Amino acid sequence: MTSAEPSGSGQPYRSKMTVYVVACWIFAAFGGLMFGYDIGISGGVTSMDDFLKKFFPAIYERKLHAKENNYCKYDDQLLQLFTSSLYLAALVASFGASKACNVLGRKPTIGLASILFILGAIVSGIAPNKALLIIGRILFGFGVGFGNESVPLFLSEVAPMQHRGAVNILFQLFVTIGILIANLVNYAVSSIHPNGWRIALGLAGVPAIFLFIGSLIITETPSSLIERGKEFEGKEVLRKIRGVDDVESELEMIKLACEIARQVKHPYKKLFKRASMPPLIIGISVQVFQQFTGINAIMFYAPVLFQTVGFKSDGSLLSAIITGVVNVLSTIVSIVVVDRIGRRKLLLQACVQMFISMVAIGSILLIHLKPSGSLDKGLAAVVVVLVCLFVMSFAWSWGPMGWLIPSETFPLETRTAGFAFAVSANMLFTFIIAQAFLSMLCNMRAYIFFFFAVWILIMGLFVVFLLPETKGVPIDTMTERVWKKHPVWRKFMGKEIVKNYEMT
Ligand code: BGC
Repeated sequence: MTSAEPSGSGQPYRSKMTVYVVACWIFAAFGGLMFGYDIGISGGVTSMDDFLKKFFPAIYERKLHAKENNYCKYDDQLLQLFTSSLYLAALVASFGASKACNVLGRKPTIGLASILFILGAIVSGIAPNKALLIIGRILFGFGVGFGNESVPLFLSEVAPMQHRGAVNILFQLFVTIGILIANLVNYAVSSIHPNGWRIALGLAGVPAIFLFIGSLIITETPSSLIERGKEFEGKEVLRKIRGVDDVESELEMIKLACEIARQVKHPYKKLFKRASMPPLIIGISVQVFQQFTGINAIMFYAPVLFQTVGFKSDGSLLSAIITGVVNVLSTIVSIVVVDRIGRRKLLLQACVQMFISMVAIGSILLIHLKPSGSLDKGLAAVVVVLVCLFVMSFAWSWGPMGWLIPSETFPLETRTAGFAFAVSANMLFTFIIAQAFLSMLCNMRAYIFFFFAVWILIMGLFVVFLLPETKGVPIDTMTERVWKKHPVWRKFMGKEIVKNYEMT
């Protein structure tokens, strides 16, 4: 397939899809599988009795005697803290990963991520005591931090601009596949006593092994090579990944971006200058808002909702399969349309669909679900459909865009540093929501769905007024073509035009 002339830019950067470049995208996307598997596996493992009896016997005892109702599920902050410690480790690691991306390059950083994750899987899988279990958790967290920093950046930098959205979303597609697989593994191992949880944690090493093999096969990105002075290699790689010989105009653009980047000795200092604020504010906000959609709360609460439909013992398996499959399939929709209809329209459409779903779920539960007892079957089925509508719209919008937009909007000189802030914002807010959700649900009951609905409204307004469209814009021309042209953000930017980017 050959494509030229991307929409909206008038830039004829030619490219041809080759088997090698597609293999690079897919191998790198295994980083998403690592992340998704971990999101999916943690909750399952920490609710397994064998696991609790071994490492947290006091919590197990309390759980046996806990009084639960529809809104107040058993909640132990210590156990939750153990689960979310991964996100804190990832938060810290993303800054180290940003440095590694700059100094070593994207490819070795991806390799490092896979090694950390493999070590995490080994240590967690064989952990004889709590100390090693926690060390395993931290290693996983480091792996996620390194992978989530380097993989989306890698994908955005190697993708031809007219397919950048689709290529980057492969990361999120693999996240969703990872979540689905983990939920199935949880279900399968829950009847294996007493070491089912070891299998679940140890299997996390499988996607990491694929990523490791991939890290040996994939190329370095041209921007990273040229930025580190390897101009000749950079040009060769560009030819290889574009599948054509004439890459001069794209090369010029990358060289120019690298020239500017090389003059910046302290990316973090530069990042906090006024002119760097627009992509920083956007990158962080998109990630924070992604978590305030309530996606992880919905995914967590889904099994309970499904049980009330009447699938008593299989409620959680069924919910995992249904929401998991909807999540994967809708992410594919995003891959197909993101470079045609753009980021903004997808995000806005999803805000409407998510808002309606949240308000409807909240209203049904508020009126009909009492602390004890269950929903009428018909109504529960409606709630299940609403949950699917919610997951569907998240999966083609805020899910993938949370990673895509921050990875494509920073100029090269602040890209890895700025993206590290976006990654860590995701980790921090995943941690906060995971930590607070159960207590909030218990105190706010059905009102929690209205809480998320209000956030969805706010993020819709944010998209309307503040989020620029980045579809079809070459990654290294964002400052000139996007930020300096936006009615709000251009006020932050300096006047000087670095060089005329409107190359033929
Ligand atoms: C988010 C996760 C979420 C997942 C759901 C990711 O993009 O960062 O928090 O669980 O999507 O598919």
